Amino acid sequence: MPALVLLGAQWGDEGKGKATDLLGGSVDYVVRYQGGNNAGHTVVVGDQKYALHLLPSGILSPGCTPVIGNGVVVDPSVLFSELNGLNERGVDTSKLLISGNAHIITPYNVTVDKVTERFLGKRKIGTTGRGIGPTYADKINRVGIRVQDLYDESILTQKVEAALDVKNQMLTKLYNRRAIAVEQVVEELLGYAERLAPYVADTVLVLNQALDEDKVVLFEGGQGTLLDIDHGTYPFVTSSNPTAGGACTGAGVGPTKISRVIGILKAYTTRVGAGPFPTELFDEDGEALRRIGGERGVTTGRDRRCGWFDAVIARYATRVNGLTDFFLTKLDVLTGWEQIPVCVAYEIDGRRVEELPYSQTDFHHAKPVYEMLPGWSEDISKAKSFADLPKNAQAYVKALEEMSGAPISAIGVGPGRDETIEINSFL
Ligand code: GDP
Ligand code: IMO
Ligand code: MG
Repeated sequence: MPALVLLGAQWGDEGKGKATDLLGGSVDYVVRYQGGNNAGHTVVVGDQKYALHLLPSGILSPGCTPVIGNGVVVDPSVLFSELNGLNERGVDTSKLLISGNAHIITPYNVTVDKVTERFLGKRKIGTTGRGIGPTYADKINRVGIRVQDLYDESILTQKVEAALDVKNQMLTKLYNRRAIAVEQVVEELLGYAERLAPYVADTVLVLNQALDEDKVVLFEGGQGTLLDIDHGTYPFVTSSNPTAGGACTGAGVGPTKISRVIGILKAYTTRVGAGPFPTELFDEDGEALRRIGGERGVTTGRDRRCGWFDAVIARYATRVNGLTDFFLTKLDVLTGWEQIPVCVAYEIDGRRVEELPYSQTDFHHAKPVYEMLPGWSEDISKAKSFADLPKNAQAYVKALEEMSGAPISAIGVGPGRDETIEINSFL
């Protein structure tokens, strides 16, 4: 049994952290393959609540080795503060492995993220301001700094020089900011090297050897399908590939090794930051979803935009990721509505469209076509099996499954590990 990918099927915040943590006890490795500390995963274990940003959610499962793959961008200061926070709460983090090929989010990448967003004004993306986009831009531009560079001062200095050459011109001449000194950056980065050293590994080799030994490896996506740089609502996306293919490139594991791709799907929809969102609500229903679902960002504290479930998006996620299963989360949040609208198609300039339009213009014009499903009022948070759910909740799940194109193998009825209905086993 081998490699599973667990990823967001919408715009992020679907409950990936909880789902990963739930499986953490049964898997040997949990691997982040893209993104960085733009992610915000809340995991509730008993009466303890953890907010994770960069670390894989498997860090909370004692038997599991957490891995930060080559496709991730790492801000060492954030990494250390996250590790310190967990250590203070008694969590053992010593097994963590970090790819030497992962790129470092440098202080100037964070600066560039902030100034470019400010410069864009009302056209801004609404990034998390963590330096994610500029770090991936440097990687693709071949002026990035990798974890392994911290162990060769001369190479590090040359690389920082190369990276700052153009950036300092831009910062001083275009953005009216002070230039950033090479030595200062080098000194700061070298200061992280010693503490980072025990974690640095050839994670590609480690993971492939583990798979050869039939160990179970879980790849945990950050963000979601619609935030993917290639398959999302570009340009209102993040700068990496949260979709399933990203697990292969971001961890160095071949696609033939992946046996299961699980899409985490919220029973309604949310989005943070700018960009199109056909089912977005601006009324008291949207406010109620936000309040009942606790829809406030874990990373930036921004209120999440809320809307009804969108089956067009779910079908798209099934297709671009080759999903084998869905994990439907937050069904409990929908308790109490007499009727629940579900978007089954879009109307675009008078036409009915069943699949996600590839044209940005069309997507901006998409209006949801709703089907009304009967709601339920019974508390479902204690449900342990599908049969425990009220008939209308069962019908809601079945309808979503039918429309979305993959079986719903688990249902979340609360934030806790045990507030989950398992229908088909993932392992
Ligand atoms: P992630 O970024 O995909 O890991 O998701 P977040 O952690 O940002 O947001 C999901 C939120 O929903 C977290 O606060 C979770 O504790 C919570 N959550 C996850 N699953 C469920 C569920 O089934 N029901 C409820 N009520 N909350 C859930
Ligand atoms: P998790 O892992 C929701 C959004 C930002 C912004 C866009 C680009 O918790 O699901 P970036 O800083 O990545 O360049 O911002 O992507 N975004 C997220 N939205 N959940 C996330 O992560 C996100 N990570 C980035 O709000 O719109
Ligand atoms: Mg989140």
